[in-house]
Amino acid sequence: MTVAISHSPEVQAFFAKAAGVGNDQGNPRLKQIVLRILQDSAKLIEDLAISDDEFWTAVDYLNRLGSRNEAGLLMAGLGLEHFLDLLSDARDSQAGHTGGTPRTIEGPLYVAGAPLCEGEARLDDGRDPGQPMLLEGQVLDLAGQPLAGAIVDVWHANTQGLYSYFDSGQSAYNLRRRIVTDAQGRYRAYSIVPSGYGCPADGPTQACLDQLGRHGQRPAHIHFFISAPGYRHLTTQINLAGDAYLWDDFAHATRDGLVGEVERLEGGVARVVFDFCLQPAAHADDEQRSQRPRAMQTA
Ligand SMILES: [Fe+2]
Repeated sequence: MTVAISHSPEVQAFFAKAAGVGNDQGNPRLKQIVLRILQDSAKLIEDLAISDDEFWTAVDYLNRLGSRNEAGLLMAGLGLEHFLDLLSDARDSQAGHTGGTPRTIEGPLYVAGAPLCEGEARLDDGRDPGQPMLLEGQVLDLAGQPLAGAIVDVWHANTQGLYSYFDSGQSAYNLRRRIVTDAQGRYRAYSIVPSGYGCPADGPTQACLDQLGRHGQRPAHIHFFISAPGYRHLTTQINLAGDAYLWDDFAHATRDGLVGEVERLEGGVARVVFDFCLQPAAHADDEQRSQRPRAMQTA
């Protein structure tokens, strides 16, 4: 018979004390969250009859996850980052905020402070012999009017599926730029076609995915933050058509409306045209991206 004690008044009082509830120090919001984690963890341990070995294996896993800086990667792989998008979509729908380019996950590999360029930029440093790519389009409002002075903050992987900063073999801010749209709301980037990302094969995220019978691959994709005064910040991606993983993305980021068609120009240049449509900001806060901790290049 299952033994369950977590609901008892004694254990509930014990967890409340452990979470600092009732003292007048600390952070009330964090106390509320920690208390819930303790209560729900205890219930999970009871309901699934988690063994001590399983519990301590999980604790060791968290240590390994942190030592490899892969907690953000696991959140993408397990779909919790996509769930946050679904929840934001549902809240928007209820509030009547509809239209515009869909949001999708940021992922853990953004680096703040990329060089700011007017109208167009070259993203690659010329050291990766990838297929040349021309990426261009407009930033528009919901009525289709161009937004001049919007910032297109773009980042993508190289032909090995690796990102500068996290891959020490690449130059600083390689494949990362912020482009200010011109008077017609246009942006243009010269770069190389990225390859899809794969979770590090020897890392804890892939180890978890292996146990779930899942792969850790993403389709080739390009990340964006799009922002303009008076408009809602947009975090999104273009996932490239034709990739085997387009609709089999371990990070669940591909969405209808976010597939980029790749046109082959003469000379072997790949051209991707993509316009972004922004919703008006209802509050000043809407113009800002989340305050999620992010990497910042130094030196
Ligand atoms: Fe990515």
